[in-house]
Amino acid sequence: MSIEITKVTARIGAKVSGVDISRPLAPQEVAAIREALNVHKALVFDDVRLDDTGQQAFARHLGELTTAHPTVGAVDGAPNVLPVDSERGRANHWHTDVTFVLNPPQASTLRSLTVPPYGGETLIANAAAAYRDLPEPLRRFADTLWAEHTNDYDYAVPDEEIDEERAAQRARFTSITYRTAHPVVRVHPLTGERGLFVGGFAQRIVGLSAGESRKVLDLFQAYVTRPENVLRHRWSENQLVLFDNRITQHYAIDNYDGLPRRLHRVTVAGDVPAGVEGKESYSIEGDAAHYTPVAA
Ligand SMILES: [Fe+2]
Repeated sequence: MSIEITKVTARIGAKVSGVDISRPLAPQEVAAIREALNVHKALVFDDVRLDDTGQQAFARHLGELTTAHPTVGAVDGAPNVLPVDSERGRANHWHTDVTFVLNPPQASTLRSLTVPPYGGETLIANAAAAYRDLPEPLRRFADTLWAEHTNDYDYAVPDEEIDEERAAQRARFTSITYRTAHPVVRVHPLTGERGLFVGGFAQRIVGLSAGESRKVLDLFQAYVTRPENVLRHRWSENQLVLFDNRITQHYAIDNYDGLPRRLHRVTVAGDVPAGVEGKESYSIEGDAAHYTPVAA
């Protein structure tokens, strides 16, 4: 049986079939998956029959794993697995996973355990297509910029949602403050492709005021979230979605009336990002050595 890759949209997303990811993969299978990830940015595997151990083993084919999260606890007995549970909050904002650390994960895997009967889709956006969509003067402008990413920023929470549990979750999330400067345009280390590397943790453009930063970030973000650049993934149970965290953003839509929704996330350790002139990201605050090794 050979691996088959079927596009889901023109610019992002493909289904992968003809490979059983619950068993150890041959080097040529890993190479085919990596190549498909480079091209399509997000890959969907159906009927995966994986448990936590299997999900970790699959992700390990792409590199060393991170622990579950720098500040949030893992699934019991599975230190590399983060529970993504509707009961623990909603990621209904555009972001790239854990970009507040110096070397964010290069890839994320999400596996569906409980899927609501309606809604609960994950949006995944191609940040390289967004960069290519920019008019040339904006591309040149973006190439020069750096952004500060942090896990500790004020965001508006509706009054009715501020309860003790939410406050405790927030306190845990920010129990270590991270701030890292990343290039706004990141060069993908495997493909050389350029992508907008911003998302929700990017709070400030280096050298600009908060107000100016917001406008500039919103301008770029509007290109990332163009419908043409976005895969809207409707989950079924026992699926695994693998996405390239170096060149995508994602958003978990909160449109399922609070019904149970549970995914398990395992992430692959990443490299330190580099901009168009090769300059690398630098840490301003917070050490993530307990969370992630640095990929070469
Ligand atoms: Fe995420």
